[in-house]
Amino acid sequence: MTDRYVVIGNPIAHSKSPQIHAMFAKQTGQAMSYERLLAPLDGFADTVQRFIVSGGRGANVTLPFKLEAFAFANQLSQRAQAAGAVNTLIFDGDRIHGDNTDGLGLVRDIQANAGVAIANQRVLLLGAGGAAQGVILPLLEQSPRSITISNRTLSKAEDLVQQFTHPALQACALDALGEAYDIVINATSAGLSGELPPLPAKIFGAGSFAYDMIYAAQPTAFMQFAQRQGASARDGLGMLVEQAAASFYVWRGVQPDTAPVYDSLRAQS
Ligand code: ATR
Repeated sequence: MTDRYVVIGNPIAHSKSPQIHAMFAKQTGQAMSYERLLAPLDGFADTVQRFIVSGGRGANVTLPFKLEAFAFANQLSQRAQAAGAVNTLIFDGDRIHGDNTDGLGLVRDIQANAGVAIANQRVLLLGAGGAAQGVILPLLEQSPRSITISNRTLSKAEDLVQQFTHPALQACALDALGEAYDIVINATSAGLSGELPPLPAKIFGAGSFAYDMIYAAQPTAFMQFAQRQGASARDGLGMLVEQAAASFYVWRGVQPDTAPVYDSLRAQS
């Protein structure tokens, strides 16, 4: 029987994950199906339970259920614990294993695809919500010189610094940022409504690399702002493909080639 996987969210109709995993499966010869599964906003656990009973092997979890998936799992990877959220579930008998591949996806896209090393660099992480928390541990694992977390609500950035208690981590108010960073990552949700967080231009220098975790057909407002200050910029489409590849590896033990999948999605957008 073909092993079955789904991506669960609400809404879910526009998810690119089925297309990505279909390409991975074809490329690697894996016999599996991967479909969209819409869960009612108040019915995540019931929906997953039914999928498990019907023989499902694993699931990706997207908005707004990553925290519920964290609570639903009865076993968590270290990176899921650090993220406080789950985007990948593995079902094996009574075991519901929760993992999180978002941060690894970001790190791979920055390092392997964009060719920007994180080690020894000064990183500025904008935002202190779930998206920011999910990438802190994988970024720290690359040994940056520092990670400064800056957020509209400063206390949330300070809470994250306290939670991770790592010497490379510090918090800073947005209007107190006074120097150029090597890598600036936008993990705020401001861009989803076309907005730009209130950023001082001096956070970008000519050698800065700006990464927006959201993606769009056109450069985002954040990318355009960074480019106007002389920085190079990349959007989050590669992160989407890389987090999917990491989930695929967790389920199937096979590492797909992400480059042709990225190219195919980019050509469509
Ligand atoms: P996500 O799961 O996408 O991280 P979230 O947990 O709601 O979503 O967090 C959204 C983040 O984007 C927060 O850091 C938020 O800042 P606040 O903590 O001050 O709310 C940030 N954000 C959203 N809209 C923003 C805007 N217009 N300008 C600056 N920051 C914004």
